Amino acid sequence: MRIVLFLFVLFHKGFSVYNSRISSSAAFDISIQNKISSPKSILELGFFKPAPSSSVGDRWYLGMWYRKLPNEVVWVANRDNPLSKPIGTLKIFNNNLHLFDHTSNSVWSTQVTGQSLKSDLTAELLDNGNLVLRYSNENETSGFLWQSFDFPTDTLLPNMKVGWDKNSGLNRILQSWKGINDPSTGDYTYKVEIREPPESYIRKKGKPTVRSGPWNSMSDADTHGKLRYGTYDLTVRDEEISYSFTISNDSFFSILRLDHNGVLNRSTWIPTSGELKWIGYLLPDDPCYEYNKCGPNGLCDINTSPICNCIKGFQAKHQEAWELRDTEEGCVRKTQSKCNGDQFLKLQTMKLPDTVVSIVDMKLGLKECKKKCLATCNCTAYANANMENGGSGCVIWVGELLDLRKYKNAGQDLYVRLRMEAIDIGDEGKNNTKIIFIIVGVVILLLLSFIIMVCVWKRKKRPPTKAITAPIGELHCEEMTLETVVVATQGFSDSNKIGQGGFGIVYKGRLLGGQEIAVKRLLKMSTQGIDEFKNELSLNASVQHVNLVQLLGYCFEGGEMILIYEYLENSSLDKFIFDKSQSSKLTWEKRVQIINGISRGLLYLHQDSRRPMVHRDLKPSNILLDQDMIPKISDFGMSKLFDKRTTAANTTKIVGTFGYMSPEYAEDGTYSTKSDVFSFGVVLLEIIFGVKNRDFYIYSENEESLLTYIWRNWKEGKGLDSIDQVILDSSTFQPHQVKRCIQIGLLCVQERAEDRPTMLLVSVMFASDTMEIDPPGPPGYLVRRSHLETGSSSRKKLNEESWTVAEVTYSAIEPR
Ligand SMILES: *[C@@H]1O[C@H](CO)[C@@H](O)[C@H](O)[C@H]1NC(C)=O
Ligand SMILES: *[C@@H]1O[C@H](CO)[C@@H](O)[C@H](O)[C@H]1NC(C)=O
Ligand SMILES: *[C@@H]1O[C@H](CO)[C@@H](O)[C@H](O)[C@H]1NC(C)=O
Ligand SMILES: *[C@@H]1O[C@H](CO)[C@@H](O)[C@H](O)[C@H]1NC(C)=O
Repeated sequence: MRIVLFLFVLFHKGFSVYNSRISSSAAFDISIQNKISSPKSILELGFFKPAPSSSVGDRWYLGMWYRKLPNEVVWVANRDNPLSKPIGTLKIFNNNLHLFDHTSNSVWSTQVTGQSLKSDLTAELLDNGNLVLRYSNENETSGFLWQSFDFPTDTLLPNMKVGWDKNSGLNRILQSWKGINDPSTGDYTYKVEIREPPESYIRKKGKPTVRSGPWNSMSDADTHGKLRYGTYDLTVRDEEISYSFTISNDSFFSILRLDHNGVLNRSTWIPTSGELKWIGYLLPDDPCYEYNKCGPNGLCDINTSPICNCIKGFQAKHQEAWELRDTEEGCVRKTQSKCNGDQFLKLQTMKLPDTVVSIVDMKLGLKECKKKCLATCNCTAYANANMENGGSGCVIWVGELLDLRKYKNAGQDLYVRLRMEAIDIGDEGKNNTKIIFIIVGVVILLLLSFIIMVCVWKRKKRPPTKAITAPIGELHCEEMTLETVVVATQGFSDSNKIGQGGFGIVYKGRLLGGQEIAVKRLLKMSTQGIDEFKNELSLNASVQHVNLVQLLGYCFEGGEMILIYEYLENSSLDKFIFDKSQSSKLTWEKRVQIINGISRGLLYLHQDSRRPMVHRDLKPSNILLDQDMIPKISDFGMSKLFDKRTTAANTTKIVGTFGYMSPEYAEDGTYSTKSDVFSFGVVLLEIIFGVKNRDFYIYSENEESLLTYIWRNWKEGKGLDSIDQVILDSSTFQPHQVKRCIQIGLLCVQERAEDRPTMLLVSVMFASDTMEIDPPGPPGYLVRRSHLETGSSSRKKLNEESWTVAEVTYSAIEPR
């Protein structure tokens, strides 16, 4: 039978017609070779197997794809019930289409019930990708008993609808695959919410992650999946609320798919010179699409920096968290709204807040809407519900305003209720006061600029030495001339460049006598540069220790700020521990030597130096290595002198690097020697595990930090799990020693500063192999978990964002 069919396929022109249908009287044996094709052979229905995973055996699915795009499965029948062998039968049985496996078990069926059989049934794959079940003597004009368009998996094809249909009573949703190679039902859904006005949501396990905004004429086309080669259609009628799209050219293929990570992926394939060219868009594609990104009453605007803002009259609920871009808690009113005499603030080009807590009255206009809002004590905002014909209908919100964003060229006016004192709305009659304010403002500005000019002028006349409070305090170059430096670095040539960072470039130089030097040329005219220069000069110059980089001289001449250090052959520690090709050079013995060296350098800084200080930016890229791999701590640009008698100091300007900053410092600006101890602990653990704390955080599956991961393993007695393979391979490797070292590292990164050991205690613990040491408590945990609760693509985005966060809030970022 199969051979006959095969020959038929080969020789009969009309084969596809037969191959696209299954009638009640005949079953269709389906296998890898045997597929069902739509009449014009545009689509195929057959078995496919996703890339196998090691844990499960073969899983075969009945899926649909465009013949020309066999790797893009657009529909799956038995997504949660795979077959173990690619052998099955499609058969109409009991008024339904069934898929039977090789043991004749039904693994999938159309599940039509309550139909009295009028005549024979036919199942057919149509050229638009709809698999239908109908009476044999009827055609599509009479409708279908069942159609795959009503039961989408994760993909929308042209002319297929997602949303509600009164006739079938179905609200068709897209449901993502579980993984890129796993068609089973995943965590994300794309669903149209049937309310007034309707909206669509992407949800993860029921929790919204992206919201389209109300479906009225002002909605943002982007949230419906950008279209370049077609049109999309939002149908809002009594009998139907749906979204669909069409394609402008029949030779194009276009799909909208909810990917396993919750991203809407629109892909279009265009035939060009015999090939199909792929063009795609993703949604969400900016951080403001993230549902309720800025928390209740927070306003997301990608054109501001930071993107989260509180509406006028509101303030961050937790100011410190807000400044650290932890905006989850949102904003609260500065003054409580009263019931009488409140006013409204008009916000333009807005995505209306989530309508989950709203009341709609389509009969009211905007004026009545305002009255209604005023009359409802807990009303927080109002707007037009429908924007066709200039706007009509009324929607009021009676709770917190969720998921607010400002668009550039879309959206509508939103009126937010505020207490009168909170805003200056600028009504008529207030104009006079306004003018007075402006005049006063201008006068103050003029005065200020005059004062600033005078200051600048005075400053210019002053010799620049005084700007530097360096102990060696001379102007011009100390120990060498600028000319010497220029010659040594071949005129600051690019070929001599060995590093670059926020405030300057580091060059390698060679003095005439042959001595090699490292020259750090700070960016001209940046105040941060000047501050760092002063700081570095005054602090580094006062320290002398084998584990601290030595400052040889400096220049402050002709606007140039140059620091000259001893040159260290082996660059910095990060070049070794995070680079698989280099890390093999770091045997266990070498690592111990490095860890010890760093701890001694830090101990000196904290208490043995004449002028104790906190480094504040300890990280592998600031630890340089000489030819014998002796570590030397560098970069005192962020360091602060520290009075031994105080236990902690505070700063408003938090500098440092994410991943190395202790929680109390990053969150409150409290720094002490214990914040350095924290950074030391992170560096120690990075040296042993060969992984960057920050990167681990972003890529780990359980969204766990490196520190918690190590700590958990430690508690479970698996302390040596995942340590750098090089250590295990070292001839000097001693498990108990490594374990002890990890334990000390964990003690250093404990959440509470007071629980962490001092550097003195750390060096005592290193020195003694037998001294009893405490079990470590939980590690500090800077970035809150909630930040990373979304899917992996937005996780990536967050990563980039925390980068900007660092750039804005903290003045020092790696790599430097
Ligand atoms: C479908 O069937 C109706 C009658 O049942 C007929 O008038 C119509 O032409 C048919 N359409 C097609 C496309 O065959
Ligand atoms: C459709 O696209 C093809 C190939 O890109 C092109 O040759 C053809 O003219 C287009 N048809 C229409 C109606 O635009
Ligand atoms: C979007 O879909 C296309 C086609 O399947 C795929 O090649 C591409 O990788 C997807 N984009 C992302 C970011 O997943
Ligand atoms: C708002 O107030 C109305 C009555 O004015 C009440 O029915 C409703 O439950 C309140 N809603 C909220 C969210 O407090």
